[in-house]
Amino acid sequence: MLNVTSLSKAYRKKVVLEQISFSVQPGEIIGLVGENGAGKSTLLNILATLQRPTNGSIYLQEKSYKDEKQSIRKAIGYVPQDIAIWEEFTVEENMIFFEKLAWKKRGNEALRQLCLDMSLDKWKEPVKTLSGGMKRKLNLAISLIHDPTLLLLDEPTVGIDLKSRKEIGAYLQELASAHEKMILYTSHDMDEIIDLCDRIICIGDDPFYEEILINSGKAILSF
Ligand SMILES: Nc1ncnc2c1ncn2[C@@H]1O[C@H](COP(=O)(O)OP(=O)(O)OP(=O)(O)O)[C@@H](O)[C@H]1O
Ligand SMILES: [Mg+2]
Repeated sequence: MLNVTSLSKAYRKKVVLEQISFSVQPGEIIGLVGENGAGKSTLLNILATLQRPTNGSIYLQEKSYKDEKQSIRKAIGYVPQDIAIWEEFTVEENMIFFEKLAWKKRGNEALRQLCLDMSLDKWKEPVKTLSGGMKRKLNLAISLIHDPTLLLLDEPTVGIDLKSRKEIGAYLQELASAHEKMILYTSHDMDEIIDLCDRIICIGDDPFYEEILINSGKAILSF
């Protein structure tokens, strides 16, 4: 379980997140929505241990973010909003490179299967020759190499075609339900969020998102 309690974040005097509390159970997919600048990426960065909150506490499976950062990192898969892969390497080389950094090894066949699970059937092609959507698929596959318990996905499907998005969505739902993963997911595509997520967190002052989600039948938390 992930427990976030009274989390706040300010950049100098600018308060971005204020008193956010929620928990995520194994098997749940949580959507994060809000206008540009609302603080979605900031929250995911903090949960990915890349930034520190100004206040508040976070526990992942009863481990404190403050005291057990190294061990928590092993349980986290993170897809940043900006694509982070090696352009000069092939898909295969990228997967092998990131597997070397990962604490859990998979072997080549499983790495290739992970790409296929993300609807990416390129393997020997240099990344620089791939389309934007294909690069996102590779970023997603990389985040899954070490079989993380908590997956933090920051707009992972921007530019990915609808068919692949549906396939990836189905794969993530299977990961959550059959393998008890916890997934936090941001997207500006409300249909995707409603389709994919069990609960939705709205961040920011603008009631717009809450209003359009109200008829979705999903549980909504607002901060
Ligand atoms: N390193 C930083 N230093 C100062 N301010 C920052 C920093 N990172 C983010 N911010 C500010 O914090 C606010 C939240 O940014 P964040 O990137 O979390 O928003 P977001 O909800 O992810 O937006 P988007 O939908 O555009 O991705 C913005 O006002 C942004 O300018
Ligand atoms: Mg963002």
